[in-house]
Amino acid sequence: MKTSVRCSLHFLILVVCECSCGHWLELLMGPRLKEIDEGDENEGKAFQINDAQDLVEGYGYPFQSHEVLSQSGYVLSLHRIPYGIKRKQSNGTKRPVALFQHGLVSASDMWLFQGPNMDLPYALADAGYDVWISNMRGNVYSKAHKTLNPDRDKRFWDFSLHEVAYYDLPTITDYILNLTNHTNLYFLGHSIGSTVGMMFCALRPEYNSKIRLHLALAPLVYVTHAITLPHKIILMPSIPLTKTALANHIYNIFPRRPYFTRLLQMLCKDGMPLQQLCVSVIFMFVGADYGQFNTKHFPSIFTYFPAGTSTYLAQHTLQIYLNGTLSALDYGNNDTNFIKYNQTVPPQYNLSQVTHPVSLHYGNGDLLVTRKDIDFVEKLLPNSVGKFPVPYKDFNHMDFIWGIDAKKIIIR
Ligand SMILES: *[C@@H]1O[C@H](CO)[C@@H](O)[C@H](O)[C@H]1NC(C)=O
Ligand SMILES: *[C@@H]1O[C@H](CO)[C@@H](O)[C@H](O)[C@H]1NC(C)=O
Ligand SMILES: *[C@@H]1O[C@H](CO)[C@@H](O)[C@H](O)[C@H]1NC(C)=O
Ligand SMILES: *[C@@H]1O[C@H](CO)[C@@H](O)[C@H](O)[C@H]1NC(C)=O
Ligand SMILES: *[C@@H]1O[C@H](CO)[C@@H](O)[C@H](O)[C@H]1NC(C)=O
Ligand SMILES: *[C@@H]1O[C@H](CO)[C@@H](O)[C@H](O)[C@H]1NC(C)=O
Ligand SMILES: *[C@@H]1O[C@H](CO)[C@@H](O)[C@H](O)[C@H]1NC(C)=O
Repeated sequence: MKTSVRCSLHFLILVVCECSCGHWLELLMGPRLKEIDEGDENEGKAFQINDAQDLVEGYGYPFQSHEVLSQSGYVLSLHRIPYGIKRKQSNGTKRPVALFQHGLVSASDMWLFQGPNMDLPYALADAGYDVWISNMRGNVYSKAHKTLNPDRDKRFWDFSLHEVAYYDLPTITDYILNLTNHTNLYFLGHSIGSTVGMMFCALRPEYNSKIRLHLALAPLVYVTHAITLPHKIILMPSIPLTKTALANHIYNIFPRRPYFTRLLQMLCKDGMPLQQLCVSVIFMFVGADYGQFNTKHFPSIFTYFPAGTSTYLAQHTLQIYLNGTLSALDYGNNDTNFIKYNQTVPPQYNLSQVTHPVSLHYGNGDLLVTRKDIDFVEKLLPNSVGKFPVPYKDFNHMDFIWGIDAKKIIIR
């Protein structure tokens, strides 16, 4: 987008917001950072949902949670299904490791809430894998730090996909390989979960040997397709909107909040007149696939989605999508860029450094990541093992997570 258009949009939103919408912005996007002595609003405390452990154990599978300290002090929760239950498996055997990485404002439980008949992690556990599921820093399970308080200290939220790739994925990989005594693992990333996996090895090529295969599910890498008009209309003002949020001290965006969840559940559940609107808005973003979307799942979808991230990380995702280049986040300021990257222009991630095998999986009905994008990225990857369209006509971006037959269609 033209800088001038972007600036005037930013200006417009700022002017409108200065008058009244600071509060609205907070209601919509996330809480303002609290000043030192403001009381806790105990937001979310009274809100009980089945977390990842209850879900997995509720379905009869073994569950473990591991806390890992990343190199920059973040405390990350890794969830694990060490073995399956469908086939009798000898407990002592060494299983290959599969590591799942979720996408934007998501968490480990998005991979788990539908249960063994639909979700991939259970299927892989039953197929003999040792399944690990990562939680990105800043989400509901990884909102902790050795020294920084996420509710009080904005430095906690000072990260984009770059830091996740540079600091967290190496720590996670080493932790798992050390604990399981393996030399490599299978990496499954969805959307920017896959992007961050590629950025990881572009920044730290010494880790290539530790990735046996990267299964890239709808990876958002280079956007070469023409962005649709609805995407333009909604997403273009979103970058200025994130800047406005930052100016209003909103650093944690779309955390799991009870009223937000209940509102979306109420609006979209079966029998509500606005349900069709919910479906249309979602399909406008991710692609229309009526065949794989069960509206009965609305309440659980909004129980687990969103799960929170940093405003900068969301901004970074928007930048990758709208600018079409795989570069680090542009802070829009030479000094900040220099502190972050040692150069004033944000560096591009060099995919020729990503030498581990990558298989590219995509949906024909996906509006965010299309065949054209996959063709483009395949040429840049030195060790692609192929492109695999999901064999279902309208398969969209989110069907990898919630498609009714995703398990059947993807694992055949
Ligand atoms: C597997 O082994 C672990 C540790 O040795 C034990 O705690 C667990 O109960 C065993 N599970 C099964 C299904 O045998
Ligand atoms: C795992 O880490 C511990 C402590 O850092 C080390 O002693 C051990 O040898 C490592 N194990 C493997 C398999 O690398
Ligand atoms: C880990 O693997 C190495 C070789 O692959 C083996 O020598 C060692 O005994 C293993 N350690 C454990 C704790 O299984
Ligand atoms: C945006 O894209 C242009 C070329 O299309 C590139 O020169 C520029 O570096 C990109 N900006 C960022 C922040 O990636
Ligand atoms: C930022 O750096 C670029 C080159 O690295 C330079 O062209 C530009 O003028 C600088 N902007 C400011 C505001 O200093
Ligand atoms: C920045 O560059 C300097 C000098 O080239 C180097 O010593 C330093 O390690 C670099 N820092 C980063 C974060 O890359
Ligand atoms: C990317 O990496 C390749 C392989 O190491 C190297 O030849 C190339 O110069 C790099 N490109 C950039 C832009 O740094």
